[in-house]
Amino acid sequence: MKTSELYTSAPVRSALGRTLRPGGLALTRRLLQLAPPAPGSRVLDAGCGRGETLGLLLESGARALGLDLHAGFLREACQDGRAVARADLKRLPVADKSLDLIVCECTWNLTDKEGVLAEFFRTLRSGGTLALADIYTRGYRSGEWPLRCCFEQATDLQTVLEQVACAGFEIDVVEDHTAMLKKTAADFVFRHGSLFGFWQAVTGDPGLAEMACAASRESKPGLFLLTAHVPWGE
Ligand SMILES: C[S@@+](CC[C@H](N)C(=O)[O-])C[C@H]1O[C@@H](n2cnc3c(N)ncnc32)[C@H](O)[C@@H]1O
Repeated sequence: MKTSELYTSAPVRSALGRTLRPGGLALTRRLLQLAPPAPGSRVLDAGCGRGETLGLLLESGARALGLDLHAGFLREACQDGRAVARADLKRLPVADKSLDLIVCECTWNLTDKEGVLAEFFRTLRSGGTLALADIYTRGYRSGEWPLRCCFEQATDLQTVLEQVACAGFEIDVVEDHTAMLKKTAADFVFRHGSLFGFWQAVTGDPGLAEMACAASRESKPGLFLLTAHVPWGE
């Protein structure tokens, strides 16, 4: 069982700032452009991390709740009166059909993916929207990663779309934002001299760093964004 997570490591946190994933708030703004929260609407940020997306949701006038497992992130996220709670996404503490929008950014791949999609479907109202962004693979396998990260359970995009459709959703928009992931990788290279240098700073071990580089080469990770809705009448 892997005990450390990529997104809690110092090299990642110092490079990424308050969002804990590639794309930052630019990716979130694009998601919210495609799935704009109405004032007063009930929105869940599933895996809210340090609460940056919650801030944007509140600016839009939505009633936003953030859920996450990480107590330290939640302490940061609850600043400025943001509503957060500790919960595993595979058991959402939310009533059936009670949400208008769920935003889930670079968290789904870390979870029991099918179980979490079922929970998203259960808690969204008829016509409610899922806005999902995460890593996908363009290579032949997801590779062996030395620590918990969004790359580990990533699959190709076709599998993502099939899983979302299988959970009952109708897919509206799919976009490729791999350029944002490449920008993040380039930032890591500038800071650490190479991707190997970055992974060595993260893991503290040249063997594990080589393992991560090989996994990256083989799986060719990309970044997707999609919006999907619960069919009307469901
Ligand atoms: C890569 S970070 C992304 C955080 C945030 N969405 C952001 O964009 O900054 C992944 C987040 O998912 C949370 N997480 C991982 N597994 C989870 C689970 N099963 N239930 C709830 N949160 C989970 C982690 O604690 C972490 O905050």
